Amino acid sequence: MVFDLCQTWLKYRVEAKCSLELARGVKAVIAVRRATVSDATDMGRIYVETWQDAYAGLLRDGGLLSMSAKRRTSRMEAMICDLSSKDVCLVATHETYGVIGMASAGPTRTRDLPFGAEVFTLYVDPNHQRLGAGRALLSGLFSAMHQAGQRSLVIWALGGNPARTFYERLGGTEVARREGITFGDSHEEVAFGWPTMSLGDEARVEET
Ligand SMILES: CC(C)(COP(=O)(O)OP(=O)(O)OC[C@H]1O[C@@H](n2cnc3c(N)ncnc32)[C@H](O)[C@@H]1OP(=O)(O)O)[C@@H](O)C(=O)NCCC(=O)NCCS
Repeated sequence: MVFDLCQTWLKYRVEAKCSLELARGVKAVIAVRRATVSDATDMGRIYVETWQDAYAGLLRDGGLLSMSAKRRTSRMEAMICDLSSKDVCLVATHETYGVIGMASAGPTRTRDLPFGAEVFTLYVDPNHQRLGAGRALLSGLFSAMHQAGQRSLVIWALGGNPARTFYERLGGTEVARREGITFGDSHEEVAFGWPTMSLGDEARVEET
């Protein structure tokens, strides 16, 4: 699947798996596009809320509670402004709720593994997970990295992170482990790799 990320919008029609929306017979339309500086506030909020939701019990409470959406927004602004042509930063938007997810990738920082590209961030607002935004963002990163000349991709996740199932569901396999430091504590991190950057069952995402 190759998407044209030069176009402003990438559109995916994804069937909502949210029970509320399913009960109403509603299908969410989630779009993926390149992030702009005006998205930084939403991205900063999503980053902090997702960490506090997903990593509670895995990372130190004090560290999670000290995270600031305002500080993270400043870092998002800087990151978007400093993006090189080899990097990409995307947001996922919901037709009703606006920006609900963010993701970024570029040439790998893990040079001892045989993967050209690396996902640096991939976060979906806890209130809007399991609607297909994560899949759409990962698809968009694959496309952008492919256009940048990359053919394989890796992502590091915190050990014990339920996102493991997400990566495996989308065709990633565990390729390495290492010790990382977060909030001053040592934690196991697990790498998932895609040697060919294809989703496990991409037929479920319909390009429009
Ligand atoms: C991991 C994450 C990005 C997934 O995003 P999402 O929008 O909820 O995922 P999707 O709706 O696109 O799900 C795609 C598939 O993965 C499955 N999946 C997603 N999260 C899952 C979970 N926690 N457990 C089991 N399966 C999961 C979905 O069921 C779906 O499979 P299906 O099509 O067979 O139903 C999101 O949950 C998140 O931001 N998590 C917290 C932060 C994080 O860990 N990010 C990764 C950084 S390393």
